[in-house]
Amino acid sequence: AKPKVIAIDGTFASGKGTLAKRLAAHYGLSYLDTGKLYRATAKLVIDAKGDPDSAVDAEKAARALNEMDIDSFLSDPTLKSGGIGAAASKVAVHPVVRQALFQLQRDFAKQGAVLDGRDIGTVICPDADVKLYVDAKAEIRAARRHAELVGYGEDISFKTVLAQLKERDSRDMGRKDAPLKPAEDAHFLDSSDLSVEDAFDRACQIIEAVI
Ligand code: C5P
Repeated sequence: AKPKVIAIDGTFASGKGTLAKRLAAHYGLSYLDTGKLYRATAKLVIDAKGDPDSAVDAEKAARALNEMDIDSFLSDPTLKSGGIGAAASKVAVHPVVRQALFQLQRDFAKQGAVLDGRDIGTVICPDADVKLYVDAKAEIRAARRHAELVGYGEDISFKTVLAQLKERDSRDMGRKDAPLKPAEDAHFLDSSDLSVEDAFDRACQIIEAVI
């Protein structure tokens, strides 16, 4: 059997994106990195000189995003920066923003897909065939993210990355609407001591045991 919808949630830099992409290729499913929707919303707010903490500014941006061609912004490499990520977690706090981005994600899942984010198993795809919750120790995630940012040419210390990551975790887990948490039926995957390959193998074992 083949899964139709795989929901992957987890902390920042846990490796869930890499895993999600590999699973999508392996099972012949489409892939949506839902963090990019929040990142693209944040970028629209910033480009319009708005404030990510303002629900009004953020909702306007999320609504504008719905009118845009999804492929045009999902492939924008500037969405990857640390600054946009932090702003994304601010716009993601507003319930109106989450509502504005809800249907788009639901529609995407209908064709059969792997989605990764923070609320996929809990809110977006509660009926997913398989739900994974990926996490790793904060120091390990920060080291991965630090290497990635340095690779993009950003001049940032490990200490700063670790502090930002902890701030991001607490904002994502502490918000009222759709906080990051494992769905009741999610399978845990701790990627702290796993290579990309091992995490993929482990995920496949979990999926094949479930479907
Ligand atoms: O995964 P990524 O770091 O790209 O996500 C950026 C931010 O977008 C997260 O910190 C989170 O606040 C928000 N997000 C969310 N729900 C999702 C995906 C991302 O709230 N499904």
